[in-house]
Amino acid sequence: MLFFICCENSEKIPIQGAVVSAREEASKIGIEILKKGGNAFDAMVATSFALSVVFPNAGNITGGGFMVYRTSEGDIGSLDYREMAPLSSDEDMYLDNNGKVIDDLSRTGGLAVGVPGSVAGILEVHNKFGSLPLNDLIKPSVELAKKGFLVTEKQAKSLNSKKDEFIKVNGESTFYGKKFMKGDLIRNPNLAKTLNEISKFGNKGFYEGWVAESMVRKINKTGGRISMEDFSSYRPRWRRPIVFDYKDLKIISMGPPSSGGICLAQMMKMIEPYNIGNLKYKSQEALHLMIEAERRSYADRSYFLGDPDFVAIPKYHLISSDYLNERMLNYDPLLATKSSDIPHGDIVVVESDETTHFSILDSFGNAVSVTTTLNGSYGSKVFVDEIGVFMNNEMDDFSSKPGSPNMFGLTGGKANSIKPKKRMLSSMTPTIVEKNGKLFLILGSPGGSTIITSVFQTILNAYEYKMGIQESIDSPRFHHQWVPDSVKFEPNFKNINELKKLKLLGHHFDLQKSKIIGRVDAIMVNEKGTISVGADKRGDDFAQTY
Ligand code: DON
Repeated sequence: MLFFICCENSEKIPIQGAVVSAREEASKIGIEILKKGGNAFDAMVATSFALSVVFPNAGNITGGGFMVYRTSEGDIGSLDYREMAPLSSDEDMYLDNNGKVIDDLSRTGGLAVGVPGSVAGILEVHNKFGSLPLNDLIKPSVELAKKGFLVTEKQAKSLNSKKDEFIKVNGESTFYGKKFMKGDLIRNPNLAKTLNEISKFGNKGFYEGWVAESMVRKINKTGGRISMEDFSSYRPRWRRPIVFDYKDLKIISMGPPSSGGICLAQMMKMIEPYNIGNLKYKSQEALHLMIEAERRSYADRSYFLGDPDFVAIPKYHLISSDYLNERMLNYDPLLATKSSDIPHGDIVVVESDETTHFSILDSFGNAVSVTTTLNGSYGSKVFVDEIGVFMNNEMDDFSSKPGSPNMFGLTGGKANSIKPKKRMLSSMTPTIVEKNGKLFLILGSPGGSTIITSVFQTILNAYEYKMGIQESIDSPRFHHQWVPDSVKFEPNFKNINELKKLKLLGHHFDLQKSKIIGRVDAIMVNEKGTISVGADKRGDDFAQTY
């Protein structure tokens, strides 16, 4: 259920803090921490663990993610807790003897699993910024796992759609291998036990001992090649975020191994000289400009981006105005550019919504933006009974072979090839926006490659088209990612006349294939300091404030 609180015009109940996440239970657990005097980072820890209980398709302790933050003093930073390729991995691990990609091997089963980064990342956040004891932050999720949570209608549909795959990988008696109805109660005592172990022993409670052993056993039993050393050697990394200006905004987003920040910067800076605010909202002129910027940015994504610990990325060049103005030299306001005339790579879009984003603001003014994922829905479908969770299938975000698409239809080159301990390229775009030096937006989204365009369009809606945050999120989205050379529009995209004009410019799209794009959860602070929140009604997302 969507719940939306907005106090933009309310003087009576000013919001002090907000948590917007994929599930009501998780947002509420985060808010309780803020109410107890915890800061946004404490709430990040509590919300992350809560999502691992109530949102098993994407909330996780067995996946990875990114956090972008801005403290009340205006200090900014980002944490990379993306999964890593196991030590035994190699470039050809998903190929048969003829060099052909073996269908599904990087998506389902143990070989699809990357070394999880979530627990190390969450605990790193707590070590650096947390103010409350770890136990207080994990306890609500332990209780939730023990007492259980109610299945929503959307969740029942999602679980039921994967039931056969769960059984195929894990056997008939597997935990989620049954039909669910709205209102069913799911209790997960083994996950409660695991969370307790993390609470007592920190990283060692997850990356060593019986918890790690049970993951290694199950992953390898289902086709993987992972070791205890893979687990014990995992480390998250603090990284400098991507920071760029757009008019009077300063935008702070995630850098490599996510492509999110660089692509967002490219798109925004490519359109900046055209003053899109003067073009009518969702008019053919505005759509055409944005589509052409998206096209050019995704072309660069495929060629240049990968794990910065393994490949040199010309990141400042890629987001410089000179370079981006040059990229737009062949932009014609009256004609669609053919993607085949834009060099590099080969990318195809497939929508999905199995990642999860949450945004947090505390009463001190600290802002946290987190996107985390198992990659596909319920990851590799490998369910580790002893610890009550699914393992990720993040290995599929590498390019298994140049030119061969992953589950999102993304293909890549050398920069994103598989190597032991390398992190796979991501599209996750946790973002924070300042306006005239003050906090303005905290936002992000799931949606595979459509994450970046969802964030791009939400910022433009809020800033250029002066929408409130909920309207900015509700507004129908569209997406172009260079290849295939077609635009995806959401089903409720109603500007039929403008779309007809776009066709005349040479854009390709099929409205019969429309699907929802992204699920943005965001917080906005206006010039007077009033906070408003937006939870995406495309999911069960929920904004809780106090
Ligand atoms: O890191 C990435 O870009 C992907 N693993 C994200 C997956 C995702 O967003 C799935 N759901 N929409």
